[in-house]
Amino acid sequence: MRRFAISAALALALASGAVRAQSADEIERGRQLFMANGCYSCHGTVGQGGERSAAPRLAPGPYPFEAFKVLVRTPREAMPRFDPRHVSDAQLQLIHGYLASIAKGPVVADIAALRALMP
Ligand code: HEC
Repeated sequence: MRRFAISAALALALASGAVRAQSADEIERGRQLFMANGCYSCHGTVGQGGERSAAPRLAPGPYPFEAFKVLVRTPREAMPRFDPRHVSDAQLQLIHGYLASIAKGPVVADIAALRALMP
């Protein structure tokens, strides 16, 4: 039932254009752009965030594309600005698709070996 509700919500989001389905090929191209443009060097190869808080976590669950784009085009502080001549909107869309494809890891409570260590 819960799975049905999630699929229904996803189907609705897809139909409304809020979430665009990414093919495996697009996700791979997005991953390559994330590497080639050096995003990984600060944000980590799977967007997990930089060490010692160097750069924030980007995935899982990146911001919606429009917000993501604003943050990349007009960074607040230490991040270099990536302008459309360097990374086009279409390329940014692919990078976003890659980040959106990254699955959430299991929570501590679902890992038996770690659960045993919990108070
Ligand atoms: C030199 C390190 C560096 C590189 C390279 C870099 N970033 Fe960042 N990024 C940061 C830092 C630091 C921040 C935090 C805001 C700031 O300081 O501007 C940030 C913030 C962001 C944010 C906003 C996240 C939030 O939670 O506020 C997004 C989205 C983002 N980066 C995406 C990208 C993408 C996509 C690329 C590659 C095209 C990239 N970044 C390349 C360092 C980097």
